[in-house]
Amino acid sequence: MPDPTPLTLVHADKALLRQAAGARILSTLSEVLAVQQTAHLSLTGGSMGSAVWEEVAVSPLRRMVDWSRVHFWWSDERFLPAGDADRNAQQVHEAFLRDAEVPPENVHVIGNADQFTDPEEAAAAYAQELRSCAPAGQDYPVFDLTLLGMGPDGHLASLFPGRSEVLVDREDVIAVRDSPKPPPLRVSLTLPLVNRSVRTWFLVAGADKAGAFARMQALARSSPDRQQLTATPASGARGSEQTLYLVTADALPS
Ligand code: 6PG
Repeated sequence: MPDPTPLTLVHADKALLRQAAGARILSTLSEVLAVQQTAHLSLTGGSMGSAVWEEVAVSPLRRMVDWSRVHFWWSDERFLPAGDADRNAQQVHEAFLRDAEVPPENVHVIGNADQFTDPEEAAAAYAQELRSCAPAGQDYPVFDLTLLGMGPDGHLASLFPGRSEVLVDREDVIAVRDSPKPPPLRVSLTLPLVNRSVRTWFLVAGADKAGAFARMQALARSSPDRQQLTATPASGARGSEQTLYLVTADALPS
C-alpha cells in the first residue's frame, strides 16, 4: 500500500549514498517504464543532485532503462548564462546527459539569462512548457520521481527558510531574487508543484545537515504548519506514494 510517510534510509558515507541512489533511480525507472510509456523525472541541483548522475553514467544497470521514454525536468535552476558551470542542468548534462540516448526534446531545461531578460520571464516560460506536457484534464504533468537536496538551513529547490516563496500555495513556477544561497537569481517550482510527484526522494549528505534533518524528521509524521514550513521548507515535500530520505550516517542527529 503506498505510504507517503517519509522513510529514512541511512548510508555509511557519501560514496555509498551516491552509488545506492544511482542504482535505486535505475531500478525505479525500469519499473515505471514497465507499466507506462513515459517517465517524468524532476531533478535538482547541489553536489548530490549531480553526483548521482555520475554514478548512473557508469552503471551497467543504465541499460535497464529505455532513455528515449524518459523526460528530464528540474525543480529549480540558477538564472545564469547558457552553459554556466553553476547551472543545475549543465551539471547533469556533463555528468550524464551528454553521452546518454535521451532525445533532446525530452530534456526540459529551465531558461537561462541569455534567452530571457529576467527570472520572471524564464519562470513563465517553464510553467508553459510544463503545461504543454500535462495529461488531458490536468494543468501540469505528474513526476514519477523527484530528486531533491536539502540545504543546511532546511531549504529545498530554491525555497528558502523565512521567504515568502515557501508559502505560495498554488502550483506554479516562480522567480527567486536575493537567494541566500548564491547565485542570487533563480527559478523554482513552488512546493505544490514540487509535490506533484509519485515518489519524492531527498539526498542528504554531511554533518552540516544534521540540525535541519532532525527538524525535518520530527515533522515526518505530521503535516507541517505554516510556521514549521517556513522554518524548514524541506519538511513540506511528499510523494503521493513514496517519500524517502536517503541520508549519510553523519547527517543523523547525534
Ligand atoms: C540548488 C539546489 C539546492 C540543493 C541543496 C543541497 O540549486 O542549489 O537545488 O536546493 O539541492 O542546496 O545541495 P548539496 O547537496 O550540495 O548540499
